[in-house]
Amino acid sequence: MSDDESDDFRASTPYGRHRQTEVFTTGMLTGETPSVPVAYEDLKAEAMDAMSEEAYAYVAGGAGGESTKRVNRDAFDDHRLVPRVLRDTSERDLRVDVLDDTWPVPFALAPIGVQGVMCDDGDLASARAAAAEDVPYVTSTQSSYPLEDVAAELDAADDDGAPNWFQLYWSTDRDVTASLVDRAEDAGYDAICLTLDTPHLGWRERDLQGGYLPFLDGKGIANYTSDPAFRDRLDAPPEENVREAAREFVDVFADPTLSFADLDWLFDRTDLPVVCKGVLHPGDARRCVAAGAAGVVVSNHGGRQVDRAVAALDRLPAVADAVRDEDADAAVLFDSGVRRGADVLVALALGADAVLLGRPYCYGLALDGEDGVRAVVSNVRADLDLSLALTGYDAVRDVDDAALAPTD
Ligand code: FNR
Repeated sequence: MSDDESDDFRASTPYGRHRQTEVFTTGMLTGETPSVPVAYEDLKAEAMDAMSEEAYAYVAGGAGGESTKRVNRDAFDDHRLVPRVLRDTSERDLRVDVLDDTWPVPFALAPIGVQGVMCDDGDLASARAAAAEDVPYVTSTQSSYPLEDVAAELDAADDDGAPNWFQLYWSTDRDVTASLVDRAEDAGYDAICLTLDTPHLGWRERDLQGGYLPFLDGKGIANYTSDPAFRDRLDAPPEENVREAAREFVDVFADPTLSFADLDWLFDRTDLPVVCKGVLHPGDARRCVAAGAAGVVVSNHGGRQVDRAVAALDRLPAVADAVRDEDADAAVLFDSGVRRGADVLVALALGADAVLLGRPYCYGLALDGEDGVRAVVSNVRADLDLSLALTGYDAVRDVDDAALAPTD
């Protein structure tokens, strides 16, 4: 096949086939194979070699003996798709509706803090990749660059692009929390993702053994050192004394006194929809939505918070039912263990509107910055597109539990 022929072929094929063709024709014409591994296991292994030992431990590690991280994956293995035949799947629609927006794909990039330890450009590179791939992005409170700088890369004020959210850790200092929320709104983010499963940092054995907490090195605290309310708490500006700023951050980043009664304050403070992340119990989900949350993210933080916690996927159906029972329009998102396109389909079949992709894009970022994240996103989207078609669907919106084999 000539270069021109392969360009025509790429332009005319649906996404999954387009990506296959891109990879295969490059391989056949030039002998070049993907520099960012296609298989998640290889991606992770190469990222481990590319990263410092402590940075890899920070990303890969989980709480305690890491049994939660393991069951997150085991739960996916308990579900099987049932491919159907003779259905017209020549064209596919990957769009889904989340809150009042249409997402181009049923996944967003999860809020991941301290991306500066994975690549110098950190969140800026991931944001550029998300914008270029037209995939929604959730900026972490613990981003390595201020949320305004990340928003500029996302072009968050641009209504034509995919929506972008700001993830909030609710500080013990209400002025800091208020300031972060106001800044997110001013910067053009479309929603607040309020993470509720981190009132304390989990017991992470790998990080403890390595004596490594990146924040104490001034990493992942840019939203605080750039925040007027946080700076007011310091004796010296962070530029002069980063250690004081880091210690202060550790003291104030999460408020363990929070209860459901506090949610009203946030709903009053912002006009943005608030989605509660880290919910695993239907009762908690119900109360969040009844209080005014626009949705929930069913998640156990990738197994980083509680060892021997339930697999997030196992809680998805019950939480989704509770949420929709309370408010049929509320969003149900899912994360913790999504690695491939078929995983996305299983989560959608079990009741999610969309999912968040976490560790896979961190490894892409560590290997090749913006291009690495783009490669991971492209592969997950292509795999999803083809798995959708081969399961017999032409729209992700139609995927429900009929796509799954019955479980006992
Ligand atoms: C996270 N996660 C996370 N969540 C959040 O709400 N705010 C944050 O700042 C972070 N930071 C963070 C750092 C790292 C290195 C990881 C791996 C995870 C949790 C993240 O949003 C998501 O819930 C998990 O990554 C999902 O698990 P998997 O699929 O990555 O295993």
